[in-house]
This record gives sequence, C-alpha cells and structure tokens, in this order.
Amino acid sequence: MTSPYELKNHQSAANVVWHHTHCTAVDRARIKQQRPVCIWLTGLSASGKSTLANALEAQLLDLGRHTYLLDGDNVRHGLNKDLGMSDADRAENIRRVGEVARLMNDAGLIAITAFISPFREDRDKVRALFAPGDFFEVFVDTPLAVCEQRDPKGMYRKARAGQISGFTGIDSPYDAPLNAELRIDTQDKSVAQCVEEMLAFLTPRIQG
Ligand code: ADX
Repeated sequence: MTSPYELKNHQSAANVVWHHTHCTAVDRARIKQQRPVCIWLTGLSASGKSTLANALEAQLLDLGRHTYLLDGDNVRHGLNKDLGMSDADRAENIRRVGEVARLMNDAGLIAITAFISPFREDRDKVRALFAPGDFFEVFVDTPLAVCEQRDPKGMYRKARAGQISGFTGIDSPYDAPLNAELRIDTQDKSVAQCVEEMLAFLTPRIQG
C-alpha cells in the first residue's frame, strides 16, 4: 500500500540532491565506542513494549552505552501528532520513526523503538533502511487475552464497547513477525528477566 504521504515525498525528493557530509557515521560511532543499531520492539498495545524498552535503555546507559528511545505514545504527541490510527497514518508513523531511528544511528546512537507497528510490510520497509545486522526486530509476544486483561489505559474495554474503532487485535489486524531476531515471551517472566534476554542477545552485537 502506498500512502498519500509517500507519494508526496517521492515528488519533492526528486528535485533534492543528497549532500555528503564531512564527518561520517563511522566517525560518530567511533568516539562512542559502540556499534549503533536499531532495536525495534513490536507487539500489541499493553504487551509491555514501553516497559521493556525503558528498562533496556536504563541498563544500556548503566553499561555506558549511548542510546535514544522512541516511544509510540510520546512521538504521537510531537513529531507525529498530525497522524491518526488509519492504516495509512500508521504506515506513515512507522516510516517516519524508521527514518528518525536511522538518523539516530547515523549520529552514533543505539536507537530503541516501541511501537505497535502492526503491519509487516511497514516493518520490513524500515528494516530495509538499515545495513544487514544493524536492525533487530524484537517481537514482544504477549497474547491478546493477557494484554486485554492488563488493559492499563482502559483501551481494550473501550474497543470492546465500540467506543474506539480499528483497535489493534480487536478490529484491526496485527501481523505477527515471521523472522524476528528475538521473541520475548513476557508471560510468567519479570521485566528484569526479559531485559536480561535482550541484553544477552545485544551485547556481542553492539561492541565498538
Ligand atoms: S502504531 O499502530 O502506529 O504503531 P503506536 O504504537 O504509534 O501505534 O500507538 C499505539 C498507542 O495508541 C496505543 O498504545 C494506544 O494507547 C493508542 N491507540 C489509540 N487508538 C488506537 C487503536 N485504534 N489501535 C491501537 N492503539 C491505539
């Protein structure tokens, strides 16, 4: 699906020439003594993405890593406040966040993102922005029934009552990842245990 935003972007980008910068991504990463990567958390609302992303970032900072966390609820208050929850707007949400994550990498940072990012096609487009081995899709695989029971913002209740339409998992689809680098099963596990799993995977992959 091509969004109206994408069409507009292609038209204007055609007349803009890429300007090469003097300092490179390699230079910026070198002084941070790390390999910048993108850690892309995907999963249903209330699956635990934000909680895990926050805890992971705290651990990485403790280890002296340079990071930046992009979180759906926050980004939708600023950069993406013009976007709603239609399929096209979600696609644009994810496209912009992917580009920002890539800029963060270019700046030498480890980007962590926490978005439902329900459509596989959109996630794959983001993956394609990164060099192989620099993008890690993390499937926060919490079953719908558990998310619905947690319902910290009362959103599932509203969706079931018909007060919110197009809610992911209820009346809007979630394409589960087929080839995620990591799958986190949050059931019967503490946040610390989940973060430990993520760190075990990441540590050898972010060494400068
Ligand atoms: S995404 O689909 O575009 O990736 P994103 O992660 O930015 O979504 O935002 C999800 C948050 O928006 C949810 O945590 C929830 O609080 C809120 N939200 C509001 N309407 C919906 C909806 N129809 N479906 C899912 N989440 C919604």
